[in-house]
Amino acid sequence: MNTKPFMNIVVAMDKVNTIGHQGKVPWAPLPTDNKWYLTHSTTTKDPSKRNAIIAGRSTFEDAAQFDQKYVSRWHFIVITSQSLERFFDTHSNIERDHIDVVHSFEEGAQKAKELLEQPSATIESVYIFGGVKPYEEAMERQLVKRIYLTRVFSELNDCEHRLSKFDLNGFKRIKRSSNELLSEYDDKIIEENGWKYQFEVYERDD
Ligand SMILES: NC(=O)c1ccc[n+]([C@@H]2O[C@H](COP(=O)([O-])OP(=O)(O)OC[C@H]3O[C@@H](n4cnc5c(N)ncnc54)[C@H](OP(=O)(O)O)[C@@H]3O)[C@@H](O)[C@H]2O)c1
Repeated sequence: MNTKPFMNIVVAMDKVNTIGHQGKVPWAPLPTDNKWYLTHSTTTKDPSKRNAIIAGRSTFEDAAQFDQKYVSRWHFIVITSQSLERFFDTHSNIERDHIDVVHSFEEGAQKAKELLEQPSATIESVYIFGGVKPYEEAMERQLVKRIYLTRVFSELNDCEHRLSKFDLNGFKRIKRSSNELLSEYDDKIIEENGWKYQFEVYERDD
């Protein structure tokens, strides 16, 4: 896909790029981090628009269980190898108007671009929500403009889900202006439920 970077990533990871274990995040609930990624991914300047969320099937299934006040702000682009028929059979409770099912990251990126660019676009921004392959592919294909990174100050070497390709070369860590959403949290170190972490924002350096 030949296009300028246009996506955002929201991700929490430890010092060795661990993101998950056995279907869950490997740390205790981090309430301020929840506020951080939910606020960024659900807020739009135009209240009539939604943000598109690109997610693998497992991450989508988790996100779809969130409170309706968040779910109703997202348009899902779900990556799965399942046929459309099988997917909608097994996810029959989902409102179909706000979901696109695709079979590769490339197809998901194309769909996101189309939704953003159509004349009466109802999508304002695009966020990659995970898991491993969607994050890695977005970075590898140089489609990411901004990263909202929650860096957990631990090294969890025995976890199942870790990003092996997440190279921040070409990105610079930024301090956002005070009128940007939750910018007061940038670089802030927080300790919650026994876990220490920090919010970092990166932008492609070009
Ligand atoms: N720390 C964080 O910020 C964060 C964020 C998200 C998730 N997580 C954690 O990460 C773990 C889940 O990771 P995951 O990588 O297994 O989840 P995932 O990417 O959400 O889901 C994996 C599934 O997505 C589909 N998929 C993903 N990429 C695909 C591709 N390129 N082509 C075709 N299908 C694709 C496949 O579905 P089918 O099986 O249907 O074909 C695959 O089985 C959990 O522990 C979760 O808690 C952490």
